[in-house]
Amino acid sequence: MNKPANIASTNVVWHHATVTRARREVQNGHRGGILWFTGLSGAGKSTLAHALEEELHQRGCRTFVLDGDNVRHGLCGDLGFSEKDRIENIRRVGEIAKLFMEAGVIVLTAFISPFRADRERVRGMVEHGDFMEIFCDSPIEVCETRDVKGLYKKARAGQIPEFTGITSPYEKPENPELTVNTGATALDQCVGQVLDGMLVHGILKQA
Ligand code: ADX
Repeated sequence: MNKPANIASTNVVWHHATVTRARREVQNGHRGGILWFTGLSGAGKSTLAHALEEELHQRGCRTFVLDGDNVRHGLCGDLGFSEKDRIENIRRVGEIAKLFMEAGVIVLTAFISPFRADRERVRGMVEHGDFMEIFCDSPIEVCETRDVKGLYKKARAGQIPEFTGITSPYEKPENPELTVNTGATALDQCVGQVLDGMLVHGILKQA
C-alpha cells in the first residue's frame, strides 16, 4: 500500500484494534468495500449512489454515502475548486472512505474526482478488490441540458471559474471496474448494473 505524502505527523505509532475489520465483516454478514463513483457534475453520481444504497440497505447491508455536495459543507468546507483543493478534497475523502471500509461498511463515494492520479492514489491505499471505480458516463451535453443546479448556465456565463468540463479538465477513467451509461440508462437499470458488478468483483456474494 502507498505511504501518504504528508509526513508532518512524527513520533506517532499505530495502535492495533482487537475488533478487526474481519470480525466486523463477520458480524455484518458482508464485506466492506469502496464504490467510487466518478463523473461530471450532473452525471448522476449521487442519484445512483443513493438509489444503490437504498437497495443495499434493504438487503441488510451496512452502507454510507459520501457525497461531494455534502462533504464540502463540513469536512472539506475550507476547499474550493482549484486543482490543489480538488486534490486535497479527494485525498481526505479517500482516507475517510478507507476508515468506513475498515469499519466493515460498504462506502459509496460520489465526487467528480476529475483527476486520474487522485483516483489511482485512493485505489493504491487499499487492498486489491476493495476498490471499485464506477464511471458515470454522461456526455457534457446531457449534463448541461439537465443542469439540475443551474451551474452549467452560470459557468457558461463566466460566473463560476474552473468549472469541470468547461474551464477545468475531467480525466475519464482508463480501466474502471465498471462504466454505467448514466446519460441514457434508466436509474433502476444502472442500479442493477452496479449490483451485478459488485457480484463480479466479490464485494457482494450471491444470496
Ligand atoms: S471534486 O472535483 O473536488 O471532486 P466535488 O465532487 O467535491 O468536486 O464537488 C462537485 C460539486 O460542487 C458539483 O456537483 C457542483 O454542484 C459543485 N461545484 C461548484 N463549483 C464547481 C466547479 N467549479 N466545478 C465543478 N463543480 C462545482
